[in-house]
Amino acid sequence: MSNAKGIKLVDLDEEGVNRAFRADVLAGLRQEPKAIPARWLYDDAGSQLFEEITQLPEYYPTRAETQILESLGNEFADRIGPGRAVVEFGSGSSVKTPLLLDAIAPSAYVPLDISGDFLRAAAKDLSGKFPGLPVHPVEADFMRQVELPSEIADLPKLGFFPGSTIGNMVPRTAVDLLRTMRATLGEGALLLIGMDLIKSEDILKAAYDDAQGVTAEFNLNLARRINRELDGTIPVEKLRHEARWEDHYARIEMHLVAEEALEFSVSGVTFELAAGESIHTENSHKFDRRSANTLLLAGGWTPIARWLDLEERFSLILAEASIPRSAP
Ligand code: TRP
Repeated sequence: MSNAKGIKLVDLDEEGVNRAFRADVLAGLRQEPKAIPARWLYDDAGSQLFEEITQLPEYYPTRAETQILESLGNEFADRIGPGRAVVEFGSGSSVKTPLLLDAIAPSAYVPLDISGDFLRAAAKDLSGKFPGLPVHPVEADFMRQVELPSEIADLPKLGFFPGSTIGNMVPRTAVDLLRTMRATLGEGALLLIGMDLIKSEDILKAAYDDAQGVTAEFNLNLARRINRELDGTIPVEKLRHEARWEDHYARIEMHLVAEEALEFSVSGVTFELAAGESIHTENSHKFDRRSANTLLLAGGWTPIARWLDLEERFSLILAEASIPRSAP
């Protein structure tokens, strides 16, 4: 369904329904506990709301990561060196990228994203800011191994994966992705990855349940999208956004909680939610130094440097593709 050549990425049926979305929603609502994969949060409205989240006073990760990139440019340059091809996984609107590119004098930039529209706009924008830098956008799903453009075949690579997006995956999936990235980038590659830190529950919960209710809207938009695109009858006003800290998994969970017993249908299939029952819609895992290192090592990456913002809320870790070998 997806490939690096930009062939059709969305599979629609005769009525224009996104089959993968319908399959995921129906399967997710049938299972106990109910859960829907987070990627469906990001339709146009959801992506717009997410941009707003990154500006909220409570949502510190974007500001903290940006601060690290702005203030530690010289250290990045020292550790990474010039002349690398920067491969950004899930580049989206690429707002943090110029900060990195400014710091390290790269020889090429390869933004990789599943959304071709986003990708082309961002690539154009970046080419404007860095006139001499070759930019080779690749439309692809970064969860799978990607064939990189032949133009950068001989260049040393730096993978860039900001935003603590790795934390939106459960560890098993995160390790699969790290290994896939390693296969995509090859021997000798470096990876610069953002990982949000474990901190006080109050700060964490506020970041995912802001006073203005933007994150609530973002979460509820999924129910609205189901109603709109899958002929659903979910009474959205009877669902409440909840952000929970699950200490056992060191993660924030986002849920849509039923305020009373509900019955609704999606694509002609009937579902029930008991009062207080929820649909789980997102995870955001948080890390400390050791858990971050263990995750990276499990994925074939050896951490070699780590930077925090001044308030020590967020980490950027540099890791290198380690040679697999048997060791005690
Ligand atoms: N990876 C970021 C985080 O976990 C962004 C993100 C993903 C997010 N889903 C979210 C932020 C839902 C707020 C709400 O923080």
